[in-house]
Amino acid sequence: MIIAIDGPAASGKGTLARRIAEHLGLAYLDTGLLYRAVARDVSAAGGELSDEVLAATMARKLDPASLDDAALRGARAGEAASMVARHPQVRQALLEYQRTFAGRPPGAVLDGRDIGTVVCPDADVKLFVTAAVEVRARRRHAELSAKDPNVRYDDVLEELRQRDARDMARTDAPMRQADDAILLDTTDLDIEAAFEAAVGLIKRKISQ
Ligand code: CDP
Repeated sequence: MIIAIDGPAASGKGTLARRIAEHLGLAYLDTGLLYRAVARDVSAAGGELSDEVLAATMARKLDPASLDDAALRGARAGEAASMVARHPQVRQALLEYQRTFAGRPPGAVLDGRDIGTVVCPDADVKLFVTAAVEVRARRRHAELSAKDPNVRYDDVLEELRQRDARDMARTDAPMRQADDAILLDTTDLDIEAAFEAAVGLIKRKISQ
């Protein structure tokens, strides 16, 4: 069974995807981490994020063991990820890893921007998780200020707006709700309520 979860930055899709995977006994892949790691490796090599050939080389050489890196979780890493995620050669290089991961029994939950549209168009269930941008910014701000009290809400909001715009505007695999994806708006839902709602939607879809 494959469950595809897409949505904009800080929509809560990662937390949801992890919990759903645990609940259903499936593997979990945070595909955003792949793009974050490629950006990290380009910078570590002294390159520019705009260099598609170098970024694609780093994507092909990506070591999955290196994804467990706390530095990848920060706001700057997310911003850098969306720069390299624009390059078609990078997306192509990461495609096979994601599809192989999804295809391994008993299945997996993948979260990202293009899982339902490009990576796993035949997924059994597709969710598109979103929330009002101000609510997403508030959640991300709370998360970031736990580590750095100087983080400003307005900066977080602006960064989310810009990143979403970039992710929607790119020509290759833009962020988009798949035609057969179910929309889950978590604006008024806390994590627990969002999880309950997602599990209900998945069960209903599977029993159809
Ligand atoms: O956790 P958050 O939603 O802030 O970001 P993420 O899921 O880690 O993704 C970081 C960036 O990677 C996104 O802004 C996208 O540009 C890119 N990405 C993508 O293009 N395709 C994916 N399947 C996953 C992430």
